[in-house]
Amino acid sequence: MSDRNVSQWLLGNNRYAGAVAKEPAVNWRNCKTISVTGGKGGVGKTSVSIKVAKLLAEAGNKVLLIDCDYNLSNTHIKLGLPLSNNIYSFVVKQVPFEECLYKDGNFHLLSGCNGDVELFSNGLDLDKIVINILIEQERNYDYIVLDCPAGIAQENLTINAYTDYRFVVITPDKSSITDSYALMKILKTKYGVNENHLIINKVSSVAQYQRMVKIISDTVDSYLQCRLHILGNIFKNDQAIDLFDSILLSAEKNSLDDNFRKVVGRFTEELEATGEIRNDYCAKPVGSEQNVHHVIS
Ligand SMILES: Nc1ncnc2c1ncn2[C@@H]1O[C@H](COP(=O)(O)OP(=O)(O)OP(=O)(O)O)[C@@H](O)[C@H]1O
Ligand SMILES: [Mg+2]
Repeated sequence: MSDRNVSQWLLGNNRYAGAVAKEPAVNWRNCKTISVTGGKGGVGKTSVSIKVAKLLAEAGNKVLLIDCDYNLSNTHIKLGLPLSNNIYSFVVKQVPFEECLYKDGNFHLLSGCNGDVELFSNGLDLDKIVINILIEQERNYDYIVLDCPAGIAQENLTINAYTDYRFVVITPDKSSITDSYALMKILKTKYGVNENHLIINKVSSVAQYQRMVKIISDTVDSYLQCRLHILGNIFKNDQAIDLFDSILLSAEKNSLDDNFRKVVGRFTEELEATGEIRNDYCAKPVGSEQNVHHVIS
């Protein structure tokens, strides 16, 4: 699609367009859609998506996580779930949406596929599929979190541009900074996206985190004139790599969990401060009370 066609298509699919024709629903306009993205591979997008979605659900929100890395899917693997119905079953086999979800209380997951040859050969218009799911499902959820693939393929950009919020995940290395900058630049230039949220993952020290925040916020401010909300950092966990997922998902308190609670706390505080959520409607994760809200504009 040309840029013009993409914009027209996006506008045509805007969630408020044709809203009157939708079934009346109490909360659907309050649903927040978040794409977890970042440009570079391996920075922690899937880990962040899962943990953020879990914490929002734990706080009492109804949350849908969609694995948009549709043929290199990791979410169900990280969660230790068996293979079951997924986005492919929903789209191609037309299995009812509800039957394609894994449900754990108010945390729901629509997982992707792993090297499905048929899917690889035929491809999917992932952006259209995901946006149609958002339009259809936002009435049923408080938050929909999208675990996005690496790279700046157009379908990924379209999804990023469509969502209410973009959590840009970076790590303290130059290629991650460069890739995330490229992502934000294209989103701004081609889609008019002026605001992003930043999470710095695999951080070794507070000084390193502060250096990173300065570098990226100065650059974004000077060259893109975008607003960058700093959500905080996740320290690098030095335990064996195969233990990371169990630590990430552990019910016990640990420093990783603490980092994530602060990140999610900052985000929900921001939503409260801007009137996007109400105290009595959307719950906040426990432990977010002392969080400081940072905005770099
Ligand atoms: N804070 C952290 N400390 C240590 N290891 C981490 C941390 N965050 C993520 N990892 C590890 O980094 C690897 C990549 O994480 P993850 O799969 O979440 O990244 P991704 O951005 O989704 O990757 P991809 O681009 O391939 O989808 C995994 O092995 C994960 O366990
Ligand atoms: Mg991933």
